[in-house]
Amino acid sequence: MISSYPHLIDLDDYPVSWWKEVVDLGEKIKNNPEIYSGACQGKIMATLFYEPSTRTQMSFQTAMLRLGGRLIGFDNPANSSVSKGETLKDTTKIVSNYADILVMRHPVAGAAKAAALTADCPVINAGDSGHLHPTQTLTDLLTLKCEKGRLDHLTIGLCGDLINGRTVHSLLKAMSCFEGNEFVLISTPELKLPSYVKDILKSSGCPFREVSSLEEVLPELDVLYMTRIQQERFASREEYLAQKDTYILTTKKLKTAKPDMIILHPLPRVDEIEVEIDDDPRAAYFKQARYGMYVRMALIITMLNLDTKTTLLHGTIHNDAVCKNPNCITHTEKYLPKSFVSIGDSLLECEYCNERLLIER
Ligand code: NCD
Repeated sequence: MISSYPHLIDLDDYPVSWWKEVVDLGEKIKNNPEIYSGACQGKIMATLFYEPSTRTQMSFQTAMLRLGGRLIGFDNPANSSVSKGETLKDTTKIVSNYADILVMRHPVAGAAKAAALTADCPVINAGDSGHLHPTQTLTDLLTLKCEKGRLDHLTIGLCGDLINGRTVHSLLKAMSCFEGNEFVLISTPELKLPSYVKDILKSSGCPFREVSSLEEVLPELDVLYMTRIQQERFASREEYLAQKDTYILTTKKLKTAKPDMIILHPLPRVDEIEVEIDDDPRAAYFKQARYGMYVRMALIITMLNLDTKTTLLHGTIHNDAVCKNPNCITHTEKYLPKSFVSIGDSLLECEYCNERLLIER
């Protein structure tokens, strides 16, 4: 299915050269923001946030305001017709008739892609459940470029909730496209990276290993990407409590890290980084949040000026197949075409949430 508009659902909708252009533009805007203050005059952006957000929502909003554009939207779907049972399809159709660009965050995987199927303007995925978060990755790329001076030949440790961390999934997919990067995946067995992301790392040829001790690997890292344990995505409070506090970065542990290692975190922080570390020159997470605003300014300008169509569904429709991810958008938005891509002879991958399904023969 091809949409007449450009959308950003996942970074791999575009070539690496395009991401670099957006990041370069973000850096130019950071250095000379006043030049861009009228770049989106007369344009309206809608932010539809079905899930809480501070940084992503406000950085998108300030980005548009700093470009001279205006805003509509909601951050509490209870205040919109969603509370009356309106489908994602209808809400998107209506809002995309009012706005020039739509930014969506949703607690269900594949929601932004589902929205893009009906939208009459570009849609940007601002996070869909624990699945993808491409604009955080653009933020991370700009941060790495400015703080490390490169996007390649980095040893990156990612620590914490690797199963639910959508920022981790999108960042790994992106960084595996640059030469010489190596990944150390630091988590408990319960919070390991989903296999579809590991498969992407394997096929890109990037070395990666899974470990459970942060202390052991800290001295070899150029970048440490900390994440919070995502309480809201656990089936029960007991399961969350069993994982909580497993990884806490302390000033004592940090003594063994390289003097030029940088610490990133998409935020919000719960307690996985000791507050004292905020004053360490290696702590880059607050700067990272500011880079997010500049890169989103670059992204809004780019998307509003793109004249391309987006292929949203590449696979085959199997309306009798059921995605086995209970948090896939195909379960709540029943009208969606159930589209799957074949992986080898025996697997189908859902095109909304990437969950894999064994074909019964
Ligand atoms: C992250 C997110 O929403 O996925 N935060 C963000 O976008 N800045 C990480 C998180 O919620 O833990």
